[in-house]
Amino acid sequence: MLANKRILLGVTGGIAAYKCAELVRRLIKRGAQVQVVMTDNATRFIPAMTLAAVSGNAVRTSLWDEQAELNMGHIELARWADLILIAPASADTIARLAGGHCSDLLTTLCLATDRPIAIAPAMNRLMWSNPATQDNVSKLTARGAQFIGPAVGELAERETGPGRMVEPAELEEFCAAQFGEGVLAGQHVLITAGPTREPIDPVRFITNRSSGKMGFAMAAACADAGAKVTLVAGPVVQPTPPGVTRIDVETAEQMHKATLDAAPGCDVFIATAAVADYKPGFAADSKIKKDAASQQLDLIRNPDILADLAAKHPDIFSIGFAAETDDLQTYARGKMQRKKLDMIAGNWVGAGKGFDTDDNALWVAWPGGEQELGPAPKGVLARDLVALIAKRQAAATEQASKDNSA
Ligand code: C5P
Repeated sequence: MLANKRILLGVTGGIAAYKCAELVRRLIKRGAQVQVVMTDNATRFIPAMTLAAVSGNAVRTSLWDEQAELNMGHIELARWADLILIAPASADTIARLAGGHCSDLLTTLCLATDRPIAIAPAMNRLMWSNPATQDNVSKLTARGAQFIGPAVGELAERETGPGRMVEPAELEEFCAAQFGEGVLAGQHVLITAGPTREPIDPVRFITNRSSGKMGFAMAAACADAGAKVTLVAGPVVQPTPPGVTRIDVETAEQMHKATLDAAPGCDVFIATAAVADYKPGFAADSKIKKDAASQQLDLIRNPDILADLAAKHPDIFSIGFAAETDDLQTYARGKMQRKKLDMIAGNWVGAGKGFDTDDNALWVAWPGGEQELGPAPKGVLARDLVALIAKRQAAATEQASKDNSA
């Protein structure tokens, strides 16, 4: 249940910090990705190098690390996480979180995130039971933070009482339980992504500006949500997300065939590909010479993958993307009706918008409803769209079974 889940582990100053190496190792072994952020005091108990080695990622200790801010800035880090786990959490960090401080990287991240925050306190028993700490815990609980522990037992100072950090094995189980069954568990999702290339001759082709980023982000988000994912990709430079089966194609004809071949047994189809609408009616076998003063290119229509799939498999919940420069909502709804789709995600394209950008905004519609998503990084948007797809698909399935029994 932790495969591909992104856990941001915040480590604060306490002797239990030494147990974090085992915690990270356990989470990684379950398939999670872990990024560690340490407070200054935490580095007095365990070297950052140890946690970097077990997590496989550089450990962040400062808000003012220029190189780290260039790579994954603190806001991206806050959005990257599926879950923020602070273990061990000191009385001081808990107080600063309750006060809404952002005096170091960890507290800043916690203020800048909308992801769940889990806190595993570790401190002296009197510090824990002090009304100041208890007030802070109540405040954070009221705001949605979850507390795990502290456990009761022998403390570092040889006193006994509540204050021990719960053991790494228990924290591992806690993390796994947070994710439970993904919203697309048991579903098979088919996705097209990227542009297509339509050859003119052996060295030239017609293509478009699609980078494949949105489609690959959708594939990653569907896999994270527990789906089996088949991704039919045009020519793009994108790494295959973990757990995704990728089929590479070049032309619209190849994409059409690969997609329809993969469709039987699928539950959801997401067409993010920017398929070339036309291809040269004739592709020359040899390079065309520039002898003529002018040239004409005869273009013929490519097959519509989405419309064909939706017509052939009305039982597959089909989602189209509509990239538009004008009158987005009218054109997008028109496409949904014409291609007989269950949902359409419209986005603006044009100077600096849509193609090859990291951020995007979507206007999503389905028969009888609509919702705006973003602007947000494509990864965040993909996760939100997947949640919406799962919700609409469940509603459509329920409606279909009502109609059948009526
Ligand atoms: O008709 P238009 O190209 O604007 O529709 C966009 C939607 O249809 C996208 O989801 C795109 O992936 C899909 N499409 C397709 N095959 C085509 C053209 C578009 O699957 N030949």
